[in-house]
Amino acid sequence: MCGIIGITGQGPAVPRLIDSLKRLEYRGYDSAGVAAVVDGRSDRRRAKGKITELEAVLAADPLTGASGDPTVGIGHTRWATHGAPNTGNAHPHQAGRVTLVHNGIIENFAELKAELQAAGHVFESQTDTEVVAHLIDQGLTAGRDPLDAFKAVLDRLRGAYALAVLIEGEDGVILGARHGSPLVVGWGEGEMYLGSDALAVGPFTQKITYLEDGDYVRLDRTGATVFDMTGARANRSVVQVSASTALVEKGEHRHFMEKEIHEQPDSVQHTLSAYLDLVNAKVRPPEGLDFAAISRLQIVACGTAFYAGMIGRYAFERLAGLPCDVEIASEFRYRHPALMDGTLAVAVSQSGETADTLASLKWCKAHGFRTAALVNVHSSSMAREADHLWPTHAGPEIGVASTKAFTAQVAALLALAVTAGVQRGRIDAAEEARLVRVLFEAPRLIAEALTLGQAIQAVAQELSKARDVLFLGRGAMYPLALEGALKLKEISYIHAEGYAAGELKHGPIALIDEATPVVALAPLDEVFEKTASNLQEIAARGGPVIMIAPEAAETPHGAIMTRVAAPDCDPLIAPLVYAVPMQLLAYYTAVQKGTDVDQPRNLAKSVTVE
Ligand code: AGP
Repeated sequence: MCGIIGITGQGPAVPRLIDSLKRLEYRGYDSAGVAAVVDGRSDRRRAKGKITELEAVLAADPLTGASGDPTVGIGHTRWATHGAPNTGNAHPHQAGRVTLVHNGIIENFAELKAELQAAGHVFESQTDTEVVAHLIDQGLTAGRDPLDAFKAVLDRLRGAYALAVLIEGEDGVILGARHGSPLVVGWGEGEMYLGSDALAVGPFTQKITYLEDGDYVRLDRTGATVFDMTGARANRSVVQVSASTALVEKGEHRHFMEKEIHEQPDSVQHTLSAYLDLVNAKVRPPEGLDFAAISRLQIVACGTAFYAGMIGRYAFERLAGLPCDVEIASEFRYRHPALMDGTLAVAVSQSGETADTLASLKWCKAHGFRTAALVNVHSSSMAREADHLWPTHAGPEIGVASTKAFTAQVAALLALAVTAGVQRGRIDAAEEARLVRVLFEAPRLIAEALTLGQAIQAVAQELSKARDVLFLGRGAMYPLALEGALKLKEISYIHAEGYAAGELKHGPIALIDEATPVVALAPLDEVFEKTASNLQEIAARGGPVIMIAPEAAETPHGAIMTRVAAPDCDPLIAPLVYAVPMQLLAYYTAVQKGTDVDQPRNLAKSVTVE
């Protein structure tokens, strides 16, 4: 997902644009650029690769002029969608008097580009973004005033966009617009800012206005004027956010991912506290919702969030007797699902901006179903779209590979499943109290699991040599096996697959050989014996097994076994506790392989394009 920053202020803009872009690195990118108004003209510097490359370009050829350092500018980190990740396709893009940056996809860019080329416009990039610059410049050339020209172009765009635009001759002005991709206005003292999210403007201000879909805005040093999609003035509130720069530092950790893995005792505790009352050992039902009135849950999500939803399903059905379907968002709406009346649609998402999940949420709402958003960003598009906001409290998650957001999602879903059981009369007061106490054991046990770091580093040394790895689990450990495989493959680039342990003999066992390690999640639950016999099947074929299980668990006879002693725990919270060794295994393997742990290749923190 691209990152956007704009500053119209008093002091030098370029160093602060760079500072802000560094805070946007977590979104994943492959090139970066800045533009500023220098002596009345927009000028730009761009570079492929990391922001350090852009800094080197600026050091060699600064953006400054006779009137000194520019105080107005825009910056961008690009995650390539249209056009290769190179300098020519890096933002900002220019056409005539217009310089702009964009996050999203202009779906009708090809027809617009053909029209412009037929009118003599010459393009320098393969991007969809450049089309917008030419369209605005065309309007200016036709004599329209900047805001009218801008609005006329927005009316022609189809797709998702967040834009920040400089126009020569409009000193101190930045135009912005959002449709499908987030954009916020930051309020300063005699300065104003535009950014992709609160973290982007966090170094400068925590007074934020969240633009709504269809909004466009005119910023100057004195303030911002927001218009809605009809062109009417729009009153959008100014809120104080907590995204402070401190929240985005690594502290003593080498990577954000390591820091965030270690934050999980706190983040799970914070999230549980939003849904459970430990003092009285009771649930805190979300207001305005009675699970007794819900006939079915339909969870939609992507990636790690999808696996969290799968874990939630076991709890909703076992504890509350509530039928629960879980589906990958990118598949959901295109199969024209036949949802039952009384279904509650639940979008699970860290960012609250994932395009497929947001679109699925909107589809459910448009078809008359009640909706809930289980999100970590409480001001996100999904949070604002859904009827019910179910927050996770993991704090900003910077590492592209989701860790603390995942366990926060699982914690919230488990707590909500207990609530559903209580409201549907399946859980009495005594059982409610027991389950609340069990859930609140999770933070302590997660902290205990974090002490496995050294043992897991040793295992990771071996695992980093593998070409293929299998992850196995039963029950709620099966989605966790899928998540463990995703973690490993997305940051270490080692091919990995997760399977239901009972599925092994239906094909995957053909993959077993001495070069294919198998990671087995084996808590002492009702299916432990079955998992143990699966491991013996593997051992009989010479497959090396890494068994993550409590000390008390017996090692299956004959198995080539590396044991990792996970804390013993109630099966309900095993997905929370066993997530930690999964995450640490992926992390240390990636460190061993020297990959970019926080910003793995080809990945973005939030995928706001379909
Ligand atoms: C998880 O490690 C990945 N970064 C990815 O699968 C992610 O979970 C997925 O893109 C969904 O993102 P969201 O939770 O922000 O919707």
